Amino acid sequence: MKHTDIKEIFAAPAFGSDVTVCGWVRTSRDSKNVAFIELNDGTSLKHLQIVIDKSGELSYDAEALRLGTSLKVSGTVVEGREGVPEINAKEIGIIGSCPLEYPLQKKRHTLEFLRTMPHLRGRTNTFNAVLRVRSVLAEAIHQYFQDHNYVYVNTPLITGSDCEGAGEMFQVTTIGYNTEYKNEDEYYANDFFGKKAGLSVSGQLEGEMAAMAMGKIYTFGPSFRAENSNTPKHLAEFWHVEPEIAFAELPDVIEVAEDMVKTVIRTVLDKCPNEMQFFDAHFEKGLIARLEELISHDFGTVTYTEAIKLLKESGEEFVYPVEWGCDLQTEHERYISEKVFGKAVFVTDYPKEIKSFYMKQNPDGKTVAAVDLLVPGVGEIIGGSEREADYDKLITAMKERNMNLDLYSDYLDLRRFGSVPHGGFGLGFERLIMYVTGVSNIRDVILFPRTVGNIR
Ligand code: 4AD
Repeated sequence: MKHTDIKEIFAAPAFGSDVTVCGWVRTSRDSKNVAFIELNDGTSLKHLQIVIDKSGELSYDAEALRLGTSLKVSGTVVEGREGVPEINAKEIGIIGSCPLEYPLQKKRHTLEFLRTMPHLRGRTNTFNAVLRVRSVLAEAIHQYFQDHNYVYVNTPLITGSDCEGAGEMFQVTTIGYNTEYKNEDEYYANDFFGKKAGLSVSGQLEGEMAAMAMGKIYTFGPSFRAENSNTPKHLAEFWHVEPEIAFAELPDVIEVAEDMVKTVIRTVLDKCPNEMQFFDAHFEKGLIARLEELISHDFGTVTYTEAIKLLKESGEEFVYPVEWGCDLQTEHERYISEKVFGKAVFVTDYPKEIKSFYMKQNPDGKTVAAVDLLVPGVGEIIGGSEREADYDKLITAMKERNMNLDLYSDYLDLRRFGSVPHGGFGLGFERLIMYVTGVSNIRDVILFPRTVGNIR
């Protein structure tokens, strides 16, 4: 269908010329002599006003004014109020009619209500803005890594090893639920891959293998976690950005994380001014100023041990008590980033017991070279580390966790054949979007959220 994107009409209005646009009716007003339609085709947050002069020759179906109807409109671009382009309609055709039971009839619906219709909510201003910011952020992330000599690799989604060792993998099987085998081994031996397989929680292990050849790589794809966490920041399927860097130690990894986050936020502020103003007005007052502030200052850094001390001295009543050795909960993370630092902060050097087997063991024998990036409002958005590059130390850490070394022989080979210091991190893409938009529930920054007990 030949037509002009509504975005182009706003970007470079050719006043006086004729155009054809398509879109869905977002609002309409009718009066004796004139009718107005606000049309949106998804390319722009702003709607294009279509003006229908009812005293003229134009004949059209009254159903063209119904919300949700898809239209093809031809007409002349004219200057409306404050120089905003609008269309004086010459021809209005209904592409798809829309009955009155169309659920998006109100100007503002709650996010909870919209969650019940993920197939339609993209037609609201909020999701129009979220999806565009998401798209621009994704491009900015690719651009950042491409500009810095990283190679984009695609790591497998089906895997035989659990990267994080947290037992949160979805199983992949072709054997029906009622098949009976003598034991687990026999069951898996008969399954598609001849052994137990699952959906990857992280592309890191394979990413490390690629980085040991290409130097700097990144992945950008889905990760799956069967965590039973019904929280506003957990998805069972989330998008994961994972750079892996050879010849790098923990401070190098932290430098990349800070630079990348700042660069992509700058890009969104520059490329999505309308969307960001929308979020500032409707989701978090002062959002743009907060992001400008974030990117113009250094992020904070604190060790886990110092963070625990700060939390204990805070006098705050936390739901989860704080002791050295405990995992930081969202309430602790938010206290550190919001109350202590008032900005994004890296927490480093966690106790080895609460972190994964692959992290570099620090000389103190108690902590590992791990890093989490905590941001106000959300908590953790990045988790990373320097990796243990020493074969013997890695084996020891795996044995302490009773891991099956046979499943990790490829990974261990990397420490045998030209091992180098290396590290990387995982950025939860939806968590970054939450932070950038001020949208507080992760279910509202992805097209179809998958959470415990919820799939469609
Ligand atoms: O801290 P995590 O578990 O680290 C890893 O997976 C490492 N293998 C990454 C690496 O070093 N390459 O996860 C990384 C990030 C978290 O900080 C969080 O932002 C996000 O992934 N994340 C989730 N996002 C949404 N829903 C979930 N269930 C998530 N689990 C982790």
